[in-house]
Amino acid sequence: MDVQIAPSLLSADFANLAAAVRSVEGADWLHVDVMDNHFVPNLTVGLPVVEALVGVASRPLDCHLMIDDPDRWAPAYVEAGAASVTFHVEACAAPVRLARELRVQGARAGMALKPATSVEPYADLLPELDMLLIMTVEPGFGGQRFLDVCLPKIRRARDLIGASGADVWLQVDGGVSADTIERCADAGADVFVAGSAVFGADDPGAMVATLRKLADAAARRH
Ligand code: DX5
Ligand code: ZN
Repeated sequence: MDVQIAPSLLSADFANLAAAVRSVEGADWLHVDVMDNHFVPNLTVGLPVVEALVGVASRPLDCHLMIDDPDRWAPAYVEAGAASVTFHVEACAAPVRLARELRVQGARAGMALKPATSVEPYADLLPELDMLLIMTVEPGFGGQRFLDVCLPKIRRARDLIGASGADVWLQVDGGVSADTIERCADAGADVFVAGSAVFGADDPGAMVATLRKLADAAARRH
């Protein structure tokens, strides 16, 4: 699969999200970080903002739910218009049931792992998923330093996906930048979330192109 770039709006100007959306039209997805002040110690946006973004976005929305009880709340994000919805396995009571529900609703189902969560216990669940998200920072804030300690897990996840035979995208999120994206691509990631690297750049659209080029070249070296 070609690499995909998903700028995280968490680092955009929240007073002007429509302009932020327009500045990254060359991206594949718009990554929206939903935080509830319980699962993570930060509070961001919820359903009304997702609905508003769907109205102005030219790219599909990739909602990353850092919230408690996603079993209860995640389906509403599909109803709001998200094309991909990712829940954290650490917060989920019934991941298979929830992934199936999201798919039945017509969305892509993603499951996220925090840095200290192993991927191996979930190997048999991979066919239930459209995307596996390996966090490369502790979730909750943008602008944190990339955790190299997560790279072996990305490699193991890539191997498990290959062994499963399922078509599961492997996303990385946290500290992804021009300095770190090649390591992620080399480890087997194919969907790259970048917040501060994109919206902290003078030209966010150009940074999306730069990240894509770097990841693409690293993936082709495999
Ligand atoms: C962190 C969020 C990320 C965040 C990434 O909990 O899930 O999507 O926006 O920001 P950067 O790219 O700045 O690490
Ligand atoms: Zn995220």
